[in-house]
Amino acid sequence: MRREIIEPFRIKSVERLRFTTEAERREILRQAKYNPFLIDAEDVLIDLLTDSGTSAMSAEQWGGIMVGDESYAGSRSFRRFEKTVRQIFGFRHVIPTHQGRAAEKILCGLLGGPGKVIPNNSHFDTTRANVEFTGAQAVDLLPDEARDPARELPFKGDLDIAKLEKLIRDVGPSNVPFGMVTVTNNAGGGQPVSMANIRAISETLRAHGIPFIVDACRFAENAWFIKTREPGYADKTPAEIANEMFSYADGATMSLKKDGFGNIGGFLALNDDVLAERARAVLILTEGFPTYGGMAGRDMEALAIGLWEALDERYLSYRIATVRYLADRLIERGIAIVRPPGGHAVYLDAKDFYPHIPPLEYPAQVLVNELYVAGGVRGVEIGSVMFGRCVDGVEQPAHQELVRLALPRRVYTQAHVIYVAQVLEELHDNRGSARGLRIVKQPPYLRHFTAELEPLD
Ligand code: F0G
Repeated sequence: MRREIIEPFRIKSVERLRFTTEAERREILRQAKYNPFLIDAEDVLIDLLTDSGTSAMSAEQWGGIMVGDESYAGSRSFRRFEKTVRQIFGFRHVIPTHQGRAAEKILCGLLGGPGKVIPNNSHFDTTRANVEFTGAQAVDLLPDEARDPARELPFKGDLDIAKLEKLIRDVGPSNVPFGMVTVTNNAGGGQPVSMANIRAISETLRAHGIPFIVDACRFAENAWFIKTREPGYADKTPAEIANEMFSYADGATMSLKKDGFGNIGGFLALNDDVLAERARAVLILTEGFPTYGGMAGRDMEALAIGLWEALDERYLSYRIATVRYLADRLIERGIAIVRPPGGHAVYLDAKDFYPHIPPLEYPAQVLVNELYVAGGVRGVEIGSVMFGRCVDGVEQPAHQELVRLALPRRVYTQAHVIYVAQVLEELHDNRGSARGLRIVKQPPYLRHFTAELEPLD
């Protein structure tokens, strides 16, 4: 008999969950204007809104917090952090920032600008916003088959090399200040990128003298997929695989709120001495002195420990198995999800869940709301509330109606995951009774965070 993959940790400190009744949650949701972003976290039982900054730190990390060196210049904790990042990622310059988007902001500010084009497999929304803020264009280059939610591909985050070559030809290499790849590809469902693809992106960009930057948020999860899916990597450690992944790149932006096991933190890493010097000059203006940037010494100490823990094989095997377990159970019950599941989240297909609710009645928002009312579970809508666009005064729906259930790292147990699956199964059994929503108030930008909605009769 195959033994269960268990949580590779025991629990030393716990946080009590607050249970509410279904009637209470109905009222809480009404007061939150049918937008779970406006619900207080205390009123949520299982919070799957994001895997970012929500990790549980280990006892070793908490120990690191106590010995963090808060010196303004040349802190011992920075040196430890810098050494760890250099060991794992291999880049010469390590520039600490308070989170991932601060690294993006510095890089895009230095290299972006009107007329420039920045390719990626899929830009995460902060990356896209930072590119576009400079006047540059952010272009997503996934192969067409990777856009089909039902299509099972081992490396569905791979960037389309032919599209990359065409883009460079069309706009000219001098207008591509750098190229990116996001591992794993969050916007595309947490899908991994293969080593072969990373190598091919690097060769293509380098042939034109274009620097290659990796958005490395979930690099350890990506390394695990390479180890378990790509021929030739089964006997390598995740750290060796990570080393190889980054050896093909010229730099990385990283949110340490994901695979750094941090509640805050990030970095920009670069090999180019001149660019690094310019980045540090901006860092001092916006984040802080180069040996702490946007972080406290204790954060850097805890992150230096967390980065190694994220590369632990037992941890990664459990992490990916948890996501897979939830996904398989839902598939078994006929609940449509983006397939195969990625590394940090399960994405539900709300169009399939609620075929009777048209996109402009926001089926994915309905599902997020129903999930909250039925079980106190909070997910996030990635559909027409988030990405709907107004064209000539007429609202255009998004291309997909998804709900992301992102699993915080080391926070919830198998029983929590089973509970989430059960709530979804109940909702699926009663799906016919769900009704659509309409937006009654919305801000001009990023409306999903604060939009107010109400149920249609
Ligand atoms: N890149 C990717 C791929 C991300 O997923 C995120 C954040 C960032 C960059 C920005 O990092 O938040 O530290 O500034 N993703 C979070 C999420 C917010 O919920 O997926 P940050």
